[in-house]
Amino acid sequence: MGFSSSFLVLVALLALASWQAMASDPSPLQDFCVVDKNSPVFVNGFVCKNPMDVKADDFFKAAELDKPRMTNKVGSNVTLINVMQIAGLNTLGISLARIDYAPLGQNPPHTHPRATEILTVLEGTLYVGFVTSNPDNKFLSKVLNKGDVFVFPVGLIHFQINPNPYKPAVAIAALSSQNPGAITIANAVFGSKPPISDDVLAKAFQVEKNTIEWLQAQFWENNHY
Ligand SMILES: *[C@@H]1O[C@H](CO)[C@@H](O)[C@H](O)[C@H]1NC(C)=O
Repeated sequence: MGFSSSFLVLVALLALASWQAMASDPSPLQDFCVVDKNSPVFVNGFVCKNPMDVKADDFFKAAELDKPRMTNKVGSNVTLINVMQIAGLNTLGISLARIDYAPLGQNPPHTHPRATEILTVLEGTLYVGFVTSNPDNKFLSKVLNKGDVFVFPVGLIHFQINPNPYKPAVAIAALSSQNPGAITIANAVFGSKPPISDDVLAKAFQVEKNTIEWLQAQFWENNHY
């Protein structure tokens, strides 16, 4: 390989490495940057308020994560504590969720565009899985019992179901972003506003258009708050 082509390869590798370093929340450049809710400025994340005005309550929320939640049509409820709930999380690259599952309930296939997730089961049993990106689309799944821990890598489609028909389940998850985001696959594809053309979806899903129209007519309730 000549000098110029090895130089190009090096530049490409460096570009890839720096892109990967930017694929999660940027590191803080100070102890904290508590959100200034009154700032009219739009930045990546939120503007910091004066550190002199920062109080313990900026890092606190009486979230009652010990309390069971009502569940929705798919049988789950995700209670997310992100930067919208705790202003002190700004720039810190972390958030927390409690997930409640009704008997046979599920947290349907979804992705977090900005976070890896690590989850532990507090009560009951969960069947969990994720699918790797193209071209392999390998499905990795596992049954988790109370106390077990599982990881869902950033961006990958994943789900959890409670296979028990009699008992609810509860999990706690930590996510590597102050604002992980959630894309529920069925809701985003069949419940977008306005709808994606049924020509597009019929071809993509290899079904008749009336199957797509039936899916689009369903009520796509969100379970992430
Ligand atoms: C999820 O839990 C929250 C907090 O308890 C509640 O306000 C919300 O209504 C619940 N969602 C459903 C669909 O029950």
